[in-house]
Amino acid sequence: MAALRVVVLSGTGRALLCMPKTIKAPRSHQGCTLGDGGPITDKQASMSFASLPRSKKVALTAFGVLTTGATGLALMLQQSVKASDLELHPPNFPWTHNGMLSSLDHSSIRRGYQVYKQVCAACHSMEYLAFRNLVGVSHTESEVKALAEEIEVVDGPDESGEMFTRPGKLSDYFPKPYPNPEAARAANGGALPPDLSYIVNARHGGEDYVFSLLTGYCEPPAGVEVREGLYYNPYFPGQSIGMAPPIYNEVLEFEDGTPATMSQVAKDVCTFLRWAAEPEHDQRKRMGLKLLMGSAILIPLVYYMKRHRWSVLKSRKIAYRPPK
Ligand code: HEC
Repeated sequence: MAALRVVVLSGTGRALLCMPKTIKAPRSHQGCTLGDGGPITDKQASMSFASLPRSKKVALTAFGVLTTGATGLALMLQQSVKASDLELHPPNFPWTHNGMLSSLDHSSIRRGYQVYKQVCAACHSMEYLAFRNLVGVSHTESEVKALAEEIEVVDGPDESGEMFTRPGKLSDYFPKPYPNPEAARAANGGALPPDLSYIVNARHGGEDYVFSLLTGYCEPPAGVEVREGLYYNPYFPGQSIGMAPPIYNEVLEFEDGTPATMSQVAKDVCTFLRWAAEPEHDQRKRMGLKLLMGSAILIPLVYYMKRHRWSVLKSRKIAYRPPK
């Protein structure tokens, strides 16, 4: 009992660590002296919970119980409104561009563009990408010119004030599937297919999420009803998505002969979308490498110079010579 009182008295575990066998704390015990360092008097030891007046005991106990109860209640309420547990979180996939110094896979970007153009572009716009952005990334300039010329662009007015159509140019932006969001909703059962330019930055999980979403469609579990026109996808918040499964095995034929399995198609389109959202990706990592190499030389040099310059100040001795 006496030992317990000492702990209560000192308020820290320090007393426990260097507490002498007998309660008498010797004066020589530096840093662990209790009170005035002398033996514990009855007055000091009596400052414990047990010796408090009844009213204070009741008040303190009530305070403790109420605080614990309120904390517990708040925690339970917080848990009950957390619906995110019902969502499946995408795993971390080993993307080839994950490393600190690894660039994007540009053949994958090229295939991903093909997937976007042949599959996703039927519903999704990419309004921040122009054909010229592809030059030197996934296609050569003449290839992109040929791609751009496939589309019709409304231009004008001409000298008679009429609008006219012309073949696309490098400077034109990707064509949109719908003239406005209302038309897009009307064609997709009320759901708006979002613009894909920055989608991997706009969703938690980035390309891991988009990959899981594209490949994650499955039958709803027993007891789960999916509304007409919606599809079950455990990765989508709410599990019911308005996008029909867009890709499957052999949904298209890659021009470079890569087998177009579902996961390959999803991986390529995700790499393309990562590049679209972060076109500076490779440049950023190259700059990082340059910075690391530069600082490997510069930092030791600067450190050496600092030691050199400060050596006089650091090694001097200031002495007081009293006047004779
Ligand atoms: C038939 C039209 C259609 C096609 C084709 C299509 N999508 Fe969608 N997509 C939609 C619609 C509609 C939504 C909105 C779904 C919703 O909000 O319920 C959507 C939503 C999305 C989302 C956003 C999901 C979210 O978290 O909000 C992503 C990412 C996406 N699509 C990627 C793609 C990719 C990549 C392709 C091509 C492989 C593609 N889509 C092809 C119609 C389509």
